[in-house]
This record gives sequence, structure tokens and C-alpha cells, in this order.
Amino acid sequence: MAKIEQLEGELIQFDSLSPSERYRAMVESIVPRPIGWISTLSPEGVINLAPFSYFSGVGSRPPLVMVSIGRRKKGVDEPKDTYRNLLETGKGAISIPTLSQWREVDKTGAVLPSSEGEPEKFGIEMIRLHPDYPPIVKGVHRAFLVSLYGTFDREELATIPFFLKIDHFYTTGKEFQPLARLGSGYGGVSPILEEE
Ligand SMILES: Cc1cc2nc3c(=O)[nH]c(=O)nc-3n(C[C@H](O)[C@H](O)[C@H](O)COP(=O)(O)O)c2cc1C
Repeated sequence: MAKIEQLEGELIQFDSLSPSERYRAMVESIVPRPIGWISTLSPEGVINLAPFSYFSGVGSRPPLVMVSIGRRKKGVDEPKDTYRNLLETGKGAISIPTLSQWREVDKTGAVLPSSEGEPEKFGIEMIRLHPDYPPIVKGVHRAFLVSLYGTFDREELATIPFFLKIDHFYTTGKEFQPLARLGSGYGGVSPILEEE
């Protein structure tokens, strides 16, 4: 770790950090992060819902978003339900949570058995917009119904980028306060600054 002359900071060789130190450095620097609240259906028909903050828009021609999903459930030697369901069904719904939904978002980060869905377990009401896609979370102002476009799967990756194509866009047309991930907590986004 070298002190840099005339600067307050230090330059850290990223490989010298442990995976959890690297994670912290990234999530505390890349802020705010939007949250994709992703619902999927298991082949058995269980509705699964989980938040993802390694989530971003990629481009609009074709309209793609990216979500990076850990291969395994924490402490359980099984794939994450979202990971498995997207690969098996090819369909998902991404609800964009509002600030007031932060507690529900946080709860749905829980590790549950695949046979148990978070909406049912936590009493989160879901609404089906289209028969070919999973339902979205009731009360959100924006959502995307998506199809799996491709993954970037390499053996050394613990977290796999999934590219999802937007097939349908749901909007109430109303302004809303999006929920952001700030480090390991949550917050809102400050008012938009624009020249008059
Ligand atoms: C706010 C928040 C953001 C998260 N972001 C991610 C992420 O980007 N990638 C990931 O693999 N897990 C992320 N997680 C953890 C997953 O939500 C968690 O592993 C969840 O249990 C996965 O659920 P599933 O097995 O039902 O798919 C996040 C959790 C929270 C609370």
C-alpha cells in the first residue's frame, strides 16, 4: 500500500484484499446502486422473490439489463432460486422498489428452501400482468417483464452476470422515490439537479 505524494489516498493492489474486503470496497464506492426486485417461477410453480443490487441497464437496442447472481445460496450447497429459475424457465419480472418498501425488500433477501416462496412467507402481495411471466410486486411504479438473453458464465466467477431482455414495461406514469442500496444499508436518491 503506497502513500501517494500530494494525494491523501493510497493505491491498493486489489488482489491483496480478501473477497469480503473487495466486496466492501466495491459496495461502499459504487453508490447508490439500484435494486432489481426479481420474481421468478420455479418449474413447480412456486413464486420466488429476491433483491439484487448488482443490477444495471446495459443498452436499449436491444433493451437489456444485467443482474449478477451468486451461484450458491449462502451456507447451503444449492443454487440460488433466481439463478435456477431463470435458467430453467427463461422468464422473470423485475419490480423497481419504492423507498417505503425497504423492509420488504430486505426480508426477501432471506435464504429459504426452494419449495417456499418469499411473497407467501412474508405476505407480500403480487400481481400478474401477463400469463407468460411471473407476477410483479403490488405497489411498485415501474417493472419490467424479461426473458433470458444470455449469461456470462466462467468457471472462476462466483457471481454470474445474467443479461435479460425487456419484453414489457409496466409504469403507473407517476413519479416515485426509488430505493437505493447504499453500502450495506438503504436510502433514497436526492432531488434531481437540473439547469433551469
Ligand atoms: C439489497 C440486497 C441486494 C442484494 N444483491 C444481490 C446481488 O446483486 N447478487 C446476488 O447474488 N445476491 C444479492 N443479494 C442476496 C440475495 O437477495 C439472496 O441471496 C437471496 O437469498 C437470493 O434468493 P433466491 O435464492 O430466492 O434467489 C442481495 C440481498 C439484498 C438484501
